[in-house]
Amino acid sequence: MNDKQLVALQAAKYVKNGMLVGLGTGSTANYFIEELARLTHDEGLKFTTVASSTISAKKAQSLQLPIVALEHINCIDLYVDGADEITPDKTLLKGRGSDLVKEKLLATAAAQFIVVADASKLVNHISQNFLIPIEVIPFAWQLAKKSLEKLGGIGELRPNAAKDGFWITSHGSYVLDMQFDKNLDASTLNALINNTPGVVEHGIFCGLADVVLIADNGTVSER
Ligand code: A5P
Repeated sequence: MNDKQLVALQAAKYVKNGMLVGLGTGSTANYFIEELARLTHDEGLKFTTVASSTISAKKAQSLQLPIVALEHINCIDLYVDGADEITPDKTLLKGRGSDLVKEKLLATAAAQFIVVADASKLVNHISQNFLIPIEVIPFAWQLAKKSLEKLGGIGELRPNAAKDGFWITSHGSYVLDMQFDKNLDASTLNALINNTPGVVEHGIFCGLADVVLIADNGTVSER
């Protein structure tokens, strides 16, 4: 069993009968979804799910998990998702897979948000390894980019897979992948980007993670 699978199984222990559970996006979240299917099948656990992306919804449906649409809920019991970076104070960078709008909605709506990752995701500061994904309204991308550049941001629109156009998120936005001065702390940057017209959402998750489960060479620790 690899570390991502191990930590996903640990998170599944938090799922109880009757819960509404948010499903994250990515390879670690996929292991969690698979474990939920096993718990339903083998142990009769009963719960409902809501997905953070089309890909996790499709995965849940393929495993016959009960699923409701995001527009039908106003709170959830538990959200389990991976992350691209995790700092010591549990600030996260997410959205490499560009589904961060739903991810942040579910992280905010959850009574408990559990982050699952292997040790490769631990960093000292946000944007240490990845650019910050910033979803922008397509018609506003140039104005938003200019505003973000005034904050010291450097970056470009994310290209599509064929490199002949721009990436469109499941929310219908473009994505600016940007880096900022490393001395700007994540919560200041969070506030500045939140305050930028044309920005739909961005990948810095400040003060949202309740529990971070890290698997490192076969051992899971909680922070
Ligand atoms: C998806 O948009 C991201 O926020 C994911 O949570 C992240 O990319 C984690 O992916 P892995 O579990 O595959 O590392």
